[in-house]
Amino acid sequence: MVSRETSNGSSGLRSNDSNRTNETHNERNTRGGVTLDIKRVGVVGCGLMGSGIAEVAAKSGFDVVVREVTDDFLERGRARIRKSLDRAVDKEKLTTEDRDDALGRLTYTTSVDDLAECDIVIEAIVEDLSAKNELFQRLDELCGENTIFASNTSSLTITDMAAATDRPDRFVGLHFFNPVPVMKLVEVVKTIATSQETFDRAFEFSEALGKVPIAAKDNSGFVVNLLLVPYMLDAIRQLERGVASIKDIDTGMQLGCGYPMGPFVLCDFVGIDTLYRISEIMFEEYREERYAPPPLLKRIVSMGRYGRKTGKGFYDWSGDEPVPLPV
Ligand code: 3HC
Repeated sequence: MVSRETSNGSSGLRSNDSNRTNETHNERNTRGGVTLDIKRVGVVGCGLMGSGIAEVAAKSGFDVVVREVTDDFLERGRARIRKSLDRAVDKEKLTTEDRDDALGRLTYTTSVDDLAECDIVIEAIVEDLSAKNELFQRLDELCGENTIFASNTSSLTITDMAAATDRPDRFVGLHFFNPVPVMKLVEVVKTIATSQETFDRAFEFSEALGKVPIAAKDNSGFVVNLLLVPYMLDAIRQLERGVASIKDIDTGMQLGCGYPMGPFVLCDFVGIDTLYRISEIMFEEYREERYAPPPLLKRIVSMGRYGRKTGKGFYDWSGDEPVPLPV
């Protein structure tokens, strides 16, 4: 099923009339005299990251097809995008007309087949290699020769996905940061098989999204998570050793180093289950203790305290202010 959101939040049938937005997009998105040939963007997975990527792409003038596995997930993703765009209007960062234009560029579907016409497909599903490979193999059969495949994986290697398809030369990593509408960075990841042309197209596409791309080698964790993940895990180890309380460690890093949020708020923000999965993947890759999930992290996952999204992680998020929970 494919549906399109209108400015009043209702669904309607998909239309292919996107000339106006494409003109705007083409006028803007040129670099070195070359017009970016990406117009239709597929986003697979509409959770925290996928919804942010879809929102940013639609705001930047691209036609966006969002795919989720069920209507329920699709509706939740749609509501998240809508809420974020409304918030941008409330904060006077976006006009109501621009919001409505962005909403009009978004179509929603539960069928992978509806991604066939996309010029780039960005995957933001669960951090599970076999699920990602199954998806990319299906897309490989459907999409045109020129379509770029991109993964927003946090810790898996792009090579492991590219190798499962017949287009490893047209496969990159595009790693966004949470919250996607706010964080300016995108890591553009080139494997040993990615063609220079594909890398350049993906880099220009990231710029066209209003992001600042950096080039990264295809190693687990790329640039940022290779530094950030051990930092978060070390904070948990500090807590395990009783060095200081959750609140004091967070205050320490916020006020001592000027970080926007302390490591435990950040853990809750990223998702405790996500951090645990990333840590397991990175440990498996490097076999270095610094990437190993600390036992406390595992205990918190076992309790279903996944962070802000479930209301509880290192903090209880149900009140006005987060309250540290027993660990
Ligand atoms: N969507 C859209 N805009 C948002 C937003 C969201 N989800 N959350 C916050 N904002 C905007 C606000 O509207 C506000 O804009 P304004 O200044 O123009 O009014 C601005 O961001 C600041 O928000 P707030 O005043 O509400 O709150 P803060 O000042 O505390 O900022 C924050 C929130 C931007 C999230 C800031 O705390 C921050 O930068 N935190 C660090 C985030 C971070 O480290 N992200 C990376 C996570 S790791 C990752 O994603 C990789 C993955 O692989 C694990």
